[in-house]
Amino acid sequence: MTTDTPHYTPGLEGVPIAESAISLVNGQAGRLTYRGYSIEELTQPGVTFEEVVALLYDGELPNRARLAEMVSLFEEYRGLTDQQVELARHAAQQTHPMFALQAAVAVLGPMDNDFERKVDTVQTRGLQLVAKVGQLVGVIAEAIDGRPHEGARSGESMARSMLRMITGKEPNELDERVMNALLILQADHSAGNASTFTSRVVTSTKAEPNAVVSSAIGALSGPAHGGANEASLRLFMDIADPAKAEEKIERLLDDKYKIPGFGHRVYHVKDPRSKVIQTLADEVIKPGSKEHDLYQIALTVEKVATERLGHRGLYPNVDLFSGCVFAAIGIPIDLFTPIFAASRTAGWTANMREQWESGNRIFRPAQVYTGHDHRAFVPMDRR
Ligand SMILES: CC(C)(COP(=O)(O)OP(=O)(O)OC[C@H]1O[C@@H](n2cnc3c(N)ncnc32)[C@H](O)[C@@H]1OP(=O)(O)O)[C@@H](O)C(=O)NCCC(=O)NCCS
Repeated sequence: MTTDTPHYTPGLEGVPIAESAISLVNGQAGRLTYRGYSIEELTQPGVTFEEVVALLYDGELPNRARLAEMVSLFEEYRGLTDQQVELARHAAQQTHPMFALQAAVAVLGPMDNDFERKVDTVQTRGLQLVAKVGQLVGVIAEAIDGRPHEGARSGESMARSMLRMITGKEPNELDERVMNALLILQADHSAGNASTFTSRVVTSTKAEPNAVVSSAIGALSGPAHGGANEASLRLFMDIADPAKAEEKIERLLDDKYKIPGFGHRVYHVKDPRSKVIQTLADEVIKPGSKEHDLYQIALTVEKVATERLGHRGLYPNVDLFSGCVFAAIGIPIDLFTPIFAASRTAGWTANMREQWESGNRIFRPAQVYTGHDHRAFVPMDRR
């Protein structure tokens, strides 16, 4: 074994990868704050995603003038060219919406590849991406449904326009508030999560911001990360009958199956985001609906899995209940993770800027080499 470092930490567990002032995850207390403000307060009725993006970007809560400016920047920046819309619609016919989104974001890039010379635009480029990724999720949903492209309307918030474009229906006030809260809750989660770390790694190569975000979307797509919201709802749909849930979950745990929506590398108590999502679930999930049955199954998962695994510090994470709430406001299951991506683009791009401002040293960790020592090449006829 050859190594250029004495320490090897699989998954970089506990290894700081950046200094950051954006968000803080306190895994023991079960607390998440953005710029020092708790997510419980930031998701109270009336707070919008645009307001929280201003907080993440500026470091301070916006006053009325700054919020109005942010809202109008979102409207201006979310515009897409006809070709960008066509490309996203085309990709949506070929592949899962998450991969269609990744492709559509990749081609938002300019004709040149020289971001270091334009680094003073990092804030504008980041904000443009937040607005455009939200818009692209709506475009992809329209295409999947076979609806013509309508796009966001003037005066619509990001939450409202996304929800309307995704569902094809006018959202009511409650659904819009829930969508805002879901976007806010998923906007950032420290620099160390897999997709934000990815965004930092790609930023460190001085890549264009669209390349940063499309790489982070790829990292988020996996079921061990953002894809868990989709995977958990599929599991509940598979279980189908709340009366049989307990027995089925016991069996899955006996088989060492990793329940999506459960467990976390940093939280060893219940994820604070899942508590906020449960208050939204209580408001939006109607008794007697199919989402109500799915939510009962999720609650049974929480009970059974906590009894069996709580002593090991494993508890529900954000994705155990989020799928039930997404479904209750009319969002198709394949769109859960793309919406998560639209929200997290705020965190990825805030981290991108912080990475540039901190000197942007390229990530180049070491390895522990376990292969052969040097060997002589064997010509083809002697193998
Ligand atoms: C989030 C997650 C990747 C964290 O992983 P991690 O810190 O590397 O922990 P590990 O996967 O090594 O798991 C440690 C132990 O807990 C168990 N465990 C972890 N998550 C589990 C889950 N969701 N269900 C059942 N057992 C679980 C593992 O089987 C392992 O047990 P073992 O030591 O007996 O082999 C992991 O909990 C997971 O895969 N959860 C499901 C996916 C998910 O919800 N992801 C979204 C996170 S926000």
